[in-house]
Amino acid sequence: MRAIEVFDLNKNFKVGKEEIEVLKNINFSVEKGEFLSIMGPSGCGKSTLLYLLGGLDKPTSGVVSINGRDLSSLSEKQKSIMKRREIGFVFQFYNLVPNLTVEDNILLPIILDGKPLKKYEEKLKKILDTIEMSHKRKVTPRELSGGQQQRVAIARALVFEPDIILADEPIGNLDSKTGTDIMKLFQNINKNLSKTIIQVTHSEEAAYYGTSILRLKDGEIQTKEGVAS
Ligand SMILES: Nc1ncnc2c1ncn2[C@@H]1O[C@H](COP(=O)(O)OP(=O)(O)OP(=O)(O)O)[C@@H](O)[C@H]1O
Ligand SMILES: [Mg+2]
Repeated sequence: MRAIEVFDLNKNFKVGKEEIEVLKNINFSVEKGEFLSIMGPSGCGKSTLLYLLGGLDKPTSGVVSINGRDLSSLSEKQKSIMKRREIGFVFQFYNLVPNLTVEDNILLPIILDGKPLKKYEEKLKKILDTIEMSHKRKVTPRELSGGQQQRVAIARALVFEPDIILADEPIGNLDSKTGTDIMKLFQNINKNLSKTIIQVTHSEEAAYYGTSILRLKDGEIQTKEGVAS
């Protein structure tokens, strides 16, 4: 089954009296287990597209379907549950809560969902292991490097075991060595945890950690191609 399908997607924004067309007739799909990198010049619509894929914004027209379900057919409540449980989000600036510990930041989606935390002790251990941060579980983000903070954000995106991870320039704020480490972590999560990943990136090098690359320009798809492994 396909993780994501997009049909004739259009997104316009009203700026004053003017209507700008940001995404124009976008069609593509992402298979389960694919690791797609979205590239293109600043302002071409990458973040807008990613937010539509994750249901964080609504298209002007067209369909986004996640795990076989058309997002527009879901109620707001169904959609917010789906966003929390089936999709993990990772952003450029981590978006961690500064006065919560690493482990509480990771568990935040569980807390917000009202699930009992006890059930998640084992899972938390495993995730801390995956991101190699077990030794830092009790500290707050202030005491962490950028790369370590992004690891915690990735762990938080994984805690509900979503099928799909969406990441908007996850290494945009990191030095290249740390960026490479984070890309290797995503690759590991894609291969060994079988997650579908879609990242937006400005780095050609980072893009090739994926299994496919979609190039956008002026709101239109130029190409979508597999990466030779
Ligand atoms: N909420 C909004 N209201 C009006 N215009 C918007 C809004 N969000 C985005 N835009 C416009 O849509 C276009 C695409 O923005 P988007 O953030 O998707 O670009 P991007 O490809 O992610 O760029 P970057 O690489 O700089 O992050 C830009 O021209 C931007 O100004
Ligand atoms: Mg962007």
